[in-house]
Amino acid sequence: MSTADAAEFPPLERDLKSAEATEAFAARVATALMPGDRVLLLGDLGAGKTTFVRGLVRGLRSDRADEVASPTFALHHRYPGGRMVVDHCDLYRLKPGVDLSAEGLDDVVDDRSNVVCVEWPERLGARLLGAAFEIELIGVGETRRLARVRPITSDAARRLAEAAP
Ligand SMILES: Nc1ncnc2c1ncn2[C@@H]1O[C@H](COP(=O)(O)OP(=O)(O)OP(=O)(O)O)[C@@H](O)[C@H]1O
Ligand SMILES: [Mg+2]
Repeated sequence: MSTADAAEFPPLERDLKSAEATEAFAARVATALMPGDRVLLLGDLGAGKTTFVRGLVRGLRSDRADEVASPTFALHHRYPGGRMVVDHCDLYRLKPGVDLSAEGLDDVVDDRSNVVCVEWPERLGARLLGAAFEIELIGVGETRRLARVRPITSDAARRLAEAAP
């Protein structure tokens, strides 16, 4: 899907004043997720991408949410136990042009019953995973963040509107 197509769906934006607020917002967004969704997380180091994923996992009702931490050195963590399994990848340390299958993550990519959250998806090229949502976090100071949730498909846009009006 081209960027022009994506521009059809207006992003949902929230001004979030604490890490707790980011998690709570993400938990709400999680109710829009469906099996097979790929979620790309954009933003600088420390912007709150992992914090957002923790909120998604919590919102999917997994009791493993407290374990969600940056998998920078592990590349991948899996959080089962909720409405869907969440596979959380952090590609920061990889070179641009990386292929997840070549990194031994073909099970993650091929599984269409999970949700895959990818930090630093720039390493893949923006939409290689056929993403349903792009989530951008922008630091506005010590504890304030702007979150921008952009649905990529019409189905994702409809689900997001129902979950977080
Ligand atoms: N409103 C906020 N939303 C999210 N995180 C916040 C907020 N305010 C403060 N923080 C803090 O900012 C840090 C964000 O760290 P986090 O690991 O989520 O960022 P990240 O984008 O995943 O970074 P990296 O690119 O290094 O993986 C945490 O320590 C968190 O508590
Ligand atoms: Mg992180």
